[in-house]
Amino acid sequence: MEKERNSFTGSIGFVLAAAGSAVGLGNIWRFPYLAARDGGGLFLVVYLVLALTFGFALLMSEVAIGRMTRQSPLTAYGKLSKKFKPLGIIACIVPMLIMPYYCVIGGWVVKYFLAFLTGSGVSTAQDGYFTGFITDTSSPVGMTIVFLFLTMIVVLGGVDKGIERFSKVIMPLLVVLIIVISGFALSISHTDELGNVRTGFDGLKVLVIPDFTGLTVKGFFTVLMDAMGQLFYSLSIAMGIMIAYGSYMRDEDNMSKSVGQIEIFDTAIAFLAGVMVIPAVYVFMGREGMESSGPGLMFVSLPMVFEKMGSAGNFIGALFFALVLFAALTSSVSILEAIVSSFMDQFHMTRVKATLIEGVIALAFGLLVCLGYNKLYFEVTLPNGAVAQILDIMDYVSNNLLMPIVAIFTCILVGWVTGPEKIIGEITKNGEKFGRRGLFIVMVKFVAPIMLVVLLLKAVGII
Ligand code: ALA
Repeated sequence: MEKERNSFTGSIGFVLAAAGSAVGLGNIWRFPYLAARDGGGLFLVVYLVLALTFGFALLMSEVAIGRMTRQSPLTAYGKLSKKFKPLGIIACIVPMLIMPYYCVIGGWVVKYFLAFLTGSGVSTAQDGYFTGFITDTSSPVGMTIVFLFLTMIVVLGGVDKGIERFSKVIMPLLVVLIIVISGFALSISHTDELGNVRTGFDGLKVLVIPDFTGLTVKGFFTVLMDAMGQLFYSLSIAMGIMIAYGSYMRDEDNMSKSVGQIEIFDTAIAFLAGVMVIPAVYVFMGREGMESSGPGLMFVSLPMVFEKMGSAGNFIGALFFALVLFAALTSSVSILEAIVSSFMDQFHMTRVKATLIEGVIALAFGLLVCLGYNKLYFEVTLPNGAVAQILDIMDYVSNNLLMPIVAIFTCILVGWVTGPEKIIGEITKNGEKFGRRGLFIVMVKFVAPIMLVVLLLKAVGII
């Protein structure tokens, strides 16, 4: 057992680690394809409004719960109210469910990164490459192990010497890479077989100008729900992570300012990921190709784009997948830390023991996820209509069911049991200004829980 709770060495360390958690596959893989599908700028505007209101209230609540209780997600809720102890168990199950499949997808990123690094990136653009790879019985398992191992090494280093130190190196690198690649994406142009010239800036317009063509109330509702689901995933809300990281935040650091910085960081990177991906795919595949890419955007469409870039393709592809790998690693580190801190607080284990135990659990379930594409292949239709394999089922249960439940009860706890003033007291305990105080109260008591219930009902197919 650690005698004294680890902590970040200052607000920069906290912000970079938390932003590292927030910026992940959600920003680079999920955000661009949702934006492409949901009317470009329209999705962006809805997302921004939600991030500044709903996302902010939930993020603030979780970080404050962590710092106030100095506990992990598993034990923090029970410390605030005995009745909410079971919520801690769900909040700990969420990262345990996400960890295995996050490592599997992280493994896919490792595979693509190595392919581009070794100059054979072109092969990833071949028809059926991605399906061939994930249905293989050995390669995805090996890559998953590599990704999990890297994550464990960082977590074993502890909060300040592992997570903070890693984030302080990786996050600035990630920002430089994303700016360079986005700049490159904007500079490209292409003439298709019909003689149409499309430039990167045309693609940027698709991302930022709201497209209301054929928009119905039902369509807008879908955009709203997509944006809300994305916010959870992207800001690492309801995954137990921000409680764990909040518990390592120093008392003297300005929480309101730090949370604001995390929001800006995460949203800016999601936007830049859109600038990086959407123009590139738009230039070479047109609007239709872009909108129909879906989740395969990163692993199927982008390699084709890199291939069309000719000799520069391998280099740009390697930079791109290095960036995705960095983003995914800082997030998986935070997911693992949420679990490790829970084991340490609840069972008084050492960091090494807790990390090894969760490593074995994640590996076992990760293997199951990999086998879900070959030996254990089956298809089920989820209540939300999606056809799913093991990975999708774990994603659905964690993201669509458990995370809204955690968030709803967090709002009830903060808004109605402890009262928002208790959280506000924590946020302003050094006399800091808290600009969005009124908004926070209204959000956490009324708006967020209602929206979350709607999200949950939609996920289970009731509405
Ligand atoms: N917030 C992390 C991501 O976006 C989990 O991938």
